[in-house]
Amino acid sequence: MTKKRVGILISGRGSNMAALIEACRAPDYPAEIVVVISNSPDAAGLETARAEGILAVAIDHKAYPTRGDFEAVMHRALVNAGVELICNAGFMRLLTTDFVEVWRNRQLNIHPSLLPAFRGLHTHERALEAGVRITGCTVHFVRFEMDEGPIVAQAAVPVLPDDTAETLGQRVLATEHKLYPHALRLIASGEAWADGDAVRFRSPEGKSGALFSAASP
Ligand code: GRF
Repeated sequence: MTKKRVGILISGRGSNMAALIEACRAPDYPAEIVVVISNSPDAAGLETARAEGILAVAIDHKAYPTRGDFEAVMHRALVNAGVELICNAGFMRLLTTDFVEVWRNRQLNIHPSLLPAFRGLHTHERALEAGVRITGCTVHFVRFEMDEGPIVAQAAVPVLPDDTAETLGQRVLATEHKLYPHALRLIASGEAWADGDAVRFRSPEGKSGALFSAASP
């Protein structure tokens, strides 16, 4: 099996990155992580990746006069590593249309809500304020608008009566760690792909497997 070569973009802790690295250890997993890039040199995830023997580089956006200059360096690092698919995992920089277009349908993101609800930051606080009974997380292809793009997979997480943003956030994060490897498998294996504004699935099983709840094993 040829594995898809994946680059991960991070800005901080990197727990989703770690979940993807872990998933890629399985011999039958259809992807391998070939590089991790952080725009923040202090990102804890860089050390985690290096400890796993993965090439991990900091490309400090502050060192470049424009967003485009920063992205050009990042793009070159991805191409040099032979990256075919990018996974954004807590990557906190907005991307230009140029970068988004070059990697169109080859870049995924994870967001801690059931999109299109609660785009942007402070998702769990806003979910609690809105009184939703179910929230969750979403893996989607990246488009120019923030937290928008064809949805690959979603997982539902119930909001419990005494939840705080912190307790809810912890449960959603634990679910993200299952969802992202699952979504990457769908894309890297060719089971699912972006087609315009939609994601198509090769089989009905693939499609039904792209929604699961936190209660699932
Ligand atoms: C996650 O909640 C992810 O959904 C959001 O940023 C957070 C990153 O956490 N985009 P980590 O760095 O993966 O631990």
